[in-house]
Amino acid sequence: MAVFLSLAILSLILFISISSSAVRHPNAAAAGSAGAAPHSNQEIISLACRASRDPTTCQASLTQSNRVPPDATVLQVIESAVWVASQNLKTGRKMVQDILDSSAGDKNRSVAAKTGLEVLTYAEYRLNLVDGALTRGGFKDARAWTGAALAYQYGCWSGFKSVNDTPLVGQTMSFFYYSLIPSTSDALGMMVNYDVYRDGIGSWGPPKTERDGFWEPGSDSPGFVGGVPPGLKENVTVCGGGGGCDYATVQEGVDAAPDNDGSGSRFVIWIKTGVYEETVRIPLEKRNVVFLGDGMGKTVITGSLNVGLLGVSTYNSATVGVLGDGFMASGLTIQNTAGPGAYQAVAFRSDSDLSVIENCEFIGNQDTLYAHSLRQYYKSCRIQGNIDFIFGNSASFFQDCLILISPRQIDPEKGENNAVTAQGRIDPSQSTGFVFQNCVINGTDDYVALYNSNPSVHKNYLGRPWKLYSRTVFIGCTLGSLIAPDGWMIWDGDFALKTLYYGEFENSGPGSDTSKRVNWSSVIPAERAYAYTVQNFLQGDQWIPASS
Ligand SMILES: *[C@@H]1O[C@H](CO)[C@@H](O)[C@H](O)[C@H]1NC(C)=O
Ligand SMILES: *[C@@H]1O[C@H](CO)[C@@H](O)[C@H](O)[C@H]1NC(C)=O
Ligand SMILES: *[C@@H]1O[C@H](CO)[C@@H](O)[C@H](O)[C@H]1NC(C)=O
Ligand SMILES: *[C@@H]1O[C@H](CO)[C@@H](O)[C@H](O)[C@H]1NC(C)=O
Repeated sequence: MAVFLSLAILSLILFISISSSAVRHPNAAAAGSAGAAPHSNQEIISLACRASRDPTTCQASLTQSNRVPPDATVLQVIESAVWVASQNLKTGRKMVQDILDSSAGDKNRSVAAKTGLEVLTYAEYRLNLVDGALTRGGFKDARAWTGAALAYQYGCWSGFKSVNDTPLVGQTMSFFYYSLIPSTSDALGMMVNYDVYRDGIGSWGPPKTERDGFWEPGSDSPGFVGGVPPGLKENVTVCGGGGGCDYATVQEGVDAAPDNDGSGSRFVIWIKTGVYEETVRIPLEKRNVVFLGDGMGKTVITGSLNVGLLGVSTYNSATVGVLGDGFMASGLTIQNTAGPGAYQAVAFRSDSDLSVIENCEFIGNQDTLYAHSLRQYYKSCRIQGNIDFIFGNSASFFQDCLILISPRQIDPEKGENNAVTAQGRIDPSQSTGFVFQNCVINGTDDYVALYNSNPSVHKNYLGRPWKLYSRTVFIGCTLGSLIAPDGWMIWDGDFALKTLYYGEFENSGPGSDTSKRVNWSSVIPAERAYAYTVQNFLQGDQWIPASS
């Protein structure tokens, strides 16, 4: 802590001298992009750190890194910021490894450290790809991957909260909180500014959201149409009875997929009609895996893991969990049958960047669909649950989906509060959020009957803020009468109410009247609706196979 304080003082001194020099060069940005008068090293660091949530610390760590070359370009400063974050990530990883090594007798701490190490591996994997993306001008990719790395670091930190009972855990958490997470956030903030303003660094500033009246520029093109391409030919077949198929379990089919060879070719697994009672994991190495089922309710993958079981976390309760990029699925049901009394019990969890899910059904109660990170496209799906049943910190787009609230109470006449979503964006620079377009929000037949028997005790909301910068919008959807007139639910007191963005636009149905909504939700201005298209929100036109 002492180190941190003196660092802060040092950087404050630096900051004062730097800001005065910045003031003397109001046209620095124009000069930089023209290459006429290069910035001094300190000057460009201070300008770039305007993108930070904490410019003082940003400047101190970048300066200390000695990594910004003389006459650096803006891009080189960003690359230096990524380097600082990567170094911090290595340090953080080592600290978590030390916790694991010294926690042999403590099951809970070991589990937190192991889970932390696992997600830090994913953070490292993503961050390692960022330089390449920046170099080829893939700024949206760079942003998505850095944002995911940030989410994983936060996830690791968060996992230690309940086992913070040794000095080592305390130090590690401080390092994450004061160094690792901020340095990653700094790099991300710079990428956002670069993506929006390029070298016009004079326009750079701290991250802004819709709540500050800020929308990124985007194209105004007509709606994109695409999904899982038709006519895919299977590489292997799976059938429950085994007869005539390559494999009897879905996991064996997945294991048969090659580790990514860079060819980008798909590995299609045809999962024939049947009920597959198993836990399925698609690792990071297996990209472009495709699940083709025989239809929702015909091909069913089922499990019942839940947090009530020893050593099971929300994350690993998933019946199907995907890490490999480019995952696709079509025509199947994935469920978690732990039941309404079981708390968190995930049916499907995805960290698959550029994934396409169509005509699939997800059934659970609390936490059915964990859209954990990165970019995910769901089309014509049916998603069922009750508490926070679509959640996570991904950028996910739900198009033409049927979203159904199911009963959960043991004593249903007492009523309950349900939230359809709990989006978990933690940083205003993350390009994550949930978009629902042309979806129907209703209840299962059972629930609608229960609701109608006494509407006043059953409260259903479009969402609640799991994390500070939670972002969710409903556009052109049909909202059933079971959606409460105030529309959105608090998480805990006034937590996140000033920072979240909950928007509605051109919805219909009895639940769509916005006149009684909570005053921290918004009607999306018509001239800003472009921001929530498949193209602008997910860059889906670049990677979702187009339908002819
Ligand atoms: C470990 O975690 C479980 C579940 O949260 C808790 O019930 C138990 O008391 C914890 N054990 C220790 C030793 O802290
Ligand atoms: C899967 O099938 C595609 C063609 O349908 C083929 O190009 C690819 O090589 C196959 N993959 C494997 C691992 O056999
Ligand atoms: C919701 O479901 C109920 C019962 O299944 C049905 O009667 C009603 O029309 C549906 N509402 C909407 C808006 O789709
Ligand atoms: C929003 O509503 C709450 C409670 O109804 C009220 O306390 C608060 O002052 C309102 N805020 C604004 C900005 O109107």
